Amino acid sequence: MNAPGIAGRDLQRLYGREEIEAAVAGLARAIAGDYSGRPLVLLGVLKAALYFTADLARALSVVPDGPRALSVDYAWASSYGRGTESNASPRVTFDPAARFEGRDVLIADTIVDTGWTLATIRSDLYRRGAATVRQCVLFDKPSGRRTEVPVDYAGLPVPAAFVVGYGLDYQEEYRTMSCLASLKDPERKPTVPSS
Ligand code: IMP
Ligand code: MG
Repeated sequence: MNAPGIAGRDLQRLYGREEIEAAVAGLARAIAGDYSGRPLVLLGVLKAALYFTADLARALSVVPDGPRALSVDYAWASSYGRGTESNASPRVTFDPAARFEGRDVLIADTIVDTGWTLATIRSDLYRRGAATVRQCVLFDKPSGRRTEVPVDYAGLPVPAAFVVGYGLDYQEEYRTMSCLASLKDPERKPTVPSS
């Protein structure tokens, strides 16, 4: 279905707000079962996972028998310059105060494409002494994978297209849209659809 107001030209809606909420709740149930009664560090990958991490943490907190203590941390990762191509060596910055030694860490990113970002953060966390590291994404673009990285929890599949919304941007635009839409021609400036 096309997002309203754009006549199907540039942005095509893939998932609406309710489908996204349901997917986040489903991920929370699966994660809660696996980490039941154990402390967990949820590590969101900024900027894209700003909303996903917060929504997932809230969803986890209402599942009965979930993690015993949930702490939320963020890392910064930047893979794109200004375009839409991923970088094999994304820059990752952790909070200098964050400690991962001996802890179970779940990386939360809004989307996995090539896998380079998750793979880089995962090995950084093991280098910093994490006991276990798993990966969770809301959107999975399996056609884009360039490196093998386990995706332990995946919400919704997306096709081989550049997508925006729910935290995902194109040159800092469209992050705040509550739906997910594909951007057909990133060089043309589309109208923003409502959620
Ligand atoms: P990967 O390293 O190629 O797996 O990409 C992961 C990061 O690139 C995500 O954290 C996003 O910030 C960004 N990204 C990947 N695919 C898209 C997309 O289709 N639209 C917007 N950002 C994306
Ligand atoms: Mg981006």
